[in-house]
Amino acid sequence: MPYVSHQEKDATKKPMYQQLYEAIKTEIENNRLVSGSKLLSIRQMAQEWQVSRNTVEAAYHQLLDEGYVKSKEKSGYYVEDLLADGWAKDVTLEVVKHSARLVNEPDDVVAPARYDFVYGKVDGNVFPLKQWRACMEEAMQFELDRTEAYGEYQGESLLREALVTYVYQARGIRCGVEQIFIGSGTQQLLSLLCQTVFRDKSVVAMEDPGYDQVRHVFHSHEMSVLPIQLDKDGIRLDQLMASKADIAYVTPSHQYPYGMVMSIVRRLQLIAWANETGAYLIEDDYDGEFRYGTKPIPALKALDNNERIIYFGTASKVLLPSLRISYMILPQSLVTQYQEIWKKYLQTAPRVIQYALALFLQKGEWTRHIRRMRNLYAKKHRILLQTLTKTMGEQIEIIGSEAGLHILIRIHTTYTEDELIQRARKQDCQVYSIKQYYQHGGQRKNSETSEYPVLLLGFGAIPIEEITPGIEALYKAWWGSESYTSEPS
Ligand SMILES: Cc1ncc(COP(=O)(O)O)c(C=O)c1O
Repeated sequence: MPYVSHQEKDATKKPMYQQLYEAIKTEIENNRLVSGSKLLSIRQMAQEWQVSRNTVEAAYHQLLDEGYVKSKEKSGYYVEDLLADGWAKDVTLEVVKHSARLVNEPDDVVAPARYDFVYGKVDGNVFPLKQWRACMEEAMQFELDRTEAYGEYQGESLLREALVTYVYQARGIRCGVEQIFIGSGTQQLLSLLCQTVFRDKSVVAMEDPGYDQVRHVFHSHEMSVLPIQLDKDGIRLDQLMASKADIAYVTPSHQYPYGMVMSIVRRLQLIAWANETGAYLIEDDYDGEFRYGTKPIPALKALDNNERIIYFGTASKVLLPSLRISYMILPQSLVTQYQEIWKKYLQTAPRVIQYALALFLQKGEWTRHIRRMRNLYAKKHRILLQTLTKTMGEQIEIIGSEAGLHILIRIHTTYTEDELIQRARKQDCQVYSIKQYYQHGGQRKNSETSEYPVLLLGFGAIPIEEITPGIEALYKAWWGSESYTSEPS
């Protein structure tokens, strides 16, 4: 194929996949890449452009979506004949250009760094596409065969049935199908609770630092959110007891973002607090499936003996965040009390996706996928910790590394957090602040924090081979030396 050189990478802040997509598109439109010619393989193009395979895949998919190229199974991507039948002959390339512009992101989007320790994304390279496609096809057929339009307000019973088995086997939770409520995201389900169950409850205690997206929901329902500090076991009980809260939101399996796993003593104390005060505990079990070194521990909800715990689970970490499928498990008493009101709200998660996910669970693909992801993430986690220890040693502390898809590091330095992030960025490396997780912004000093800045490194999405060079780039950014074998300045 004619050469699409990485020299053509522009210095704008466009995402790299977009630069690649545009470079190839221009070649096609100017007839330098003629119809029928084969694009470089994803691997070759990634090497040529010095980008990840994900980036090339994203560019190729966009070209595919817009009809510039077609894919031939087991062969590769080929340039389409833009004026052949199937393409309206009077569709001018101007129109093509216009539609391409519509799907592009704005120019001021900052290009992702080469080494992006992003949190919230998963590793798409190992997504079980074939198995998911088969489930989607079956689900689509089922959907077309059905006559009623919207599906069950609580979510498809097939999915809820599959989840009943899964949460028992994986998280030790016993519940009935009627207690499960599917929705299109944790925020959406929580909003529904705020509009109904929590209407007469106004004070919510939240871990501080804690998950900001949940805090937004409480705030937008005009609830008063009380920040509760953490100690090594999780949310501090003395502060919680003094808070007079009606609700407490916690992340016991892997505190977000600090990462501690709540001790069994603290779990029992929390439940006792809820039983005594009549408060509700919201357990957000967003990444409980991924633990390193030890088996997943049962959920807090598994210990609920008095209907005080509302459990949240999600497909976002195990499978894909873009599916937008989350679920909550409610105490039976709430189901009985609020069912009639909830029936008035239509289900928000697409039925076809729910159905496909139910099949995915039924066929054992979900469990198989978790096993594979656990291995992959454990490998990434090991490389990340080993490289951090080898390069930065005593100069950092690693925090919350027993579970999940991110860690924190406390850096013993005189640089500020912003300076550390900027210096990393100059080495084409992105690490993240945890400021937004504190209710009052910025990092407060408590028993779990100190004066030194703390940054977040996600490892779910970063390609495994980029972890070590990424950490070396960080070392260079923060201690100014090419080699970590030399004494840092
Ligand atoms: C603490 C926490 N809870 C829940 C979620 C999942 O939210 P959702 O189910 O809306 O994808 C995430 C995702 O990153 C998270 O970090």
